[in-house]
Amino acid sequence: MSDVRSLLAARLDPAWGRAEPSGLLADWPERLAALSAASAEVASITADYVSAIAAAGDAAALQSVRNAALSRESGAFTEALALVPSLSVDEKRVWGKALNLGRKAVEDADKARRAQLEAAREADHALDVTLPGREPWTGRPHVLAQVRDDLLDLFHGLGFSVYTSPEVELDEYNFGKLNFAADHPARDAHDTYFVEGASDVVLRTHTSPGWVRAMEERKPPLRLVFPGRVYRAEAVDASHMDQFHQIDGLFVDRDVSMADLKATLNTFARAIYRADLPTRIIPIYFPFVEPGVQMDVQCVRCDGRGHVPGEEGARRCPVCKGTQWVEVLGAGMVHPNVFRAVGIDPEEYTGFAFGMGLERIAMGRYGIPEIRLFLENDLRFLGQF
Ligand code: DAH
Repeated sequence: MSDVRSLLAARLDPAWGRAEPSGLLADWPERLAALSAASAEVASITADYVSAIAAAGDAAALQSVRNAALSRESGAFTEALALVPSLSVDEKRVWGKALNLGRKAVEDADKARRAQLEAAREADHALDVTLPGREPWTGRPHVLAQVRDDLLDLFHGLGFSVYTSPEVELDEYNFGKLNFAADHPARDAHDTYFVEGASDVVLRTHTSPGWVRAMEERKPPLRLVFPGRVYRAEAVDASHMDQFHQIDGLFVDRDVSMADLKATLNTFARAIYRADLPTRIIPIYFPFVEPGVQMDVQCVRCDGRGHVPGEEGARRCPVCKGTQWVEVLGAGMVHPNVFRAVGIDPEEYTGFAFGMGLERIAMGRYGIPEIRLFLENDLRFLGQF
């Protein structure tokens, strides 16, 4: 009998893990009670095997516990049961019953654990071939980046290259060297953000300071464009934001004339709007150009009529406010004072410059009613361009 017990225990491995068998066999308490009633020793050794089965982390670990208990040649239960025929009649009854209950418990636990491991593996590799495929997410440039790139392409074709200048700028470059008088109201009109702690450092209010930097750094002839973000302390509404984008252009050489400026601006308007869209140039004051002009294009919303059809007859066009024209940019011939400020002789060189707002161009081109949409990053908006 002690042979039976030692055969049964011989194959237990102290390295096996242990886990509560009830998670595996719902009726484990009843089985254990029946086993204990038959033989306390067989019950305790059986519980060791079953706990190891419950703890087996994968199929290989499970197989080695199962082999130790049940393999046909050397399984602990196989060998112990083989001894039973040689026992006395009373012993046969006791050990035979206990060992058969134990073997059944181990077999059932093994099956249950195998099913658990298989279910976990399937959950890991779940593949539903009837599901539609996942569409890869494709990004695209922001609508303002598209408009900027279109403009840069156009100006590149006209011989302009890009010059990058800082967003945090000296007052001297944003205003002073651009011929803004120290007390000129135009300075206030720009609603400047000053950088904290420095009265002479600002967030640039326009991209025109780029010309000053380029002209100080390089010798004419110059044909440059200056794209970038600008800042103004504006109250935010449908058409104003405190940050937006501009592109300035600068052309400096001997004998550059107003005719060159007009030709360049008309080329721009035809490319960006449409070939036969009427444009006009009217005088306007900017400190850094003389003469200064503004270019308008005929309103595309009302086709230059100034009014649009409404429910109760014609109403005033909401885009041009009845004026028939929409302003698209400022421009002019570089002021001699600006040339002097950067050490270029205004008797030797002349030049033109222009500056335009990207948001305004994008809004006109696509009929976008609201400037705030550009910064909200709502994909339902951005996905339309
Ligand atoms: N910098 C001006 C602004 O932000 C726009 C401008 C006007 C730019 C005339 C120019 C120019 O280059 O020649 O309002």
